[in-house]
Amino acid sequence: MKSFLNVEDLGDLKEALKEATEIKSDRFKYDTLGKNKTLLMVFFNNSLRTRLSTQKAGMNLGMNVIVLDVNAGAWKLETERGVIMDGDKSEHLLEAIPVMGSFCDVIGIRSFAGLSDRDYDYAETVYHQFEKYSGKPVFAMETATVHPLQAFADLFTIAEYAPKRNKRPKVVLSWAPHPKSLPQAVPNSFAQWMIAAEKQSLPLGGVGDLAGMDFVITHPEGYELDPAFTKGATIEYDQRKAFEGADFIYAKNWSCPGVTKCEDYGKILSKDMSWCVDTEHMSWTNNAHFMHCLPVRRNMIVTDEVIEAPTSLVIPEAANREISATVVLKRILQSL
Ligand code: CP
Repeated sequence: MKSFLNVEDLGDLKEALKEATEIKSDRFKYDTLGKNKTLLMVFFNNSLRTRLSTQKAGMNLGMNVIVLDVNAGAWKLETERGVIMDGDKSEHLLEAIPVMGSFCDVIGIRSFAGLSDRDYDYAETVYHQFEKYSGKPVFAMETATVHPLQAFADLFTIAEYAPKRNKRPKVVLSWAPHPKSLPQAVPNSFAQWMIAAEKQSLPLGGVGDLAGMDFVITHPEGYELDPAFTKGATIEYDQRKAFEGADFIYAKNWSCPGVTKCEDYGKILSKDMSWCVDTEHMSWTNNAHFMHCLPVRRNMIVTDEVIEAPTSLVIPEAANREISATVVLKRILQSL
């Protein structure tokens, strides 16, 4: 695997989930695979889970790991070609990338959407520049439009917990309010990965089977995600209807994806607090598990009671980030 951006990059999901199960039972099984190989993690944006879990994954595989926080100690980087660099940006990404590539074997990139130019964000310009100019395999640690390491961990978590209650669970992705304008990367990837899993029976070795799922997305009008990620999904604008009978509630805020009105891209169209997931919302479900990628704004996205309930999976879901990252890095190392 030379690039990891979308669910298709991982190939057969059954195999990927089997590998995740194998790694979870012995996360050091491949601890010599990365000997004398260097992982460079490049962060253009903040992170807690991705930073720790991906670094741990590299260490599980015996890799050396370098972390570069571009905004804390590196030269300020220009990303657009053709710009007269007479401002505060000292270096162009087009020189910085091959230099970074010369010190490592694999590169992880975190680079969020700017949320002002939809075409630039949805073209995944920064990620593809790393693909083109680094000369090394690259993988997304949340880019402008996707967060596949998160979605892989989310799917694995659902596959672990679903068999205990319903082998074909109802999984609901719900928009929730937030004070700031956030990218669509997490919901885009979550939708893409759930749709890929929807029609498949996914055996998990000793853990159990996931016999596909029924996937529903709910959000206020105007928040329609890009159809490239949601084609085939059921959209239900009535949050209560969507929640009825659900086994898993995945809450997330996202700003306007600009699908129906391009000029609204990145805007906050609603702060309707009736979408905040509270105990009443959860009472509509089949005693659902609550999920969120974290970090989460309590009592905006979800109430204290719901996130602290025994059915909340936010901690095991975050812990599974180490597993998804180990599988992805293992696949990349095996292709070097
Ligand atoms: N879920 C997630 O990616 O968390 P961080 O932003 O802390 O890495």
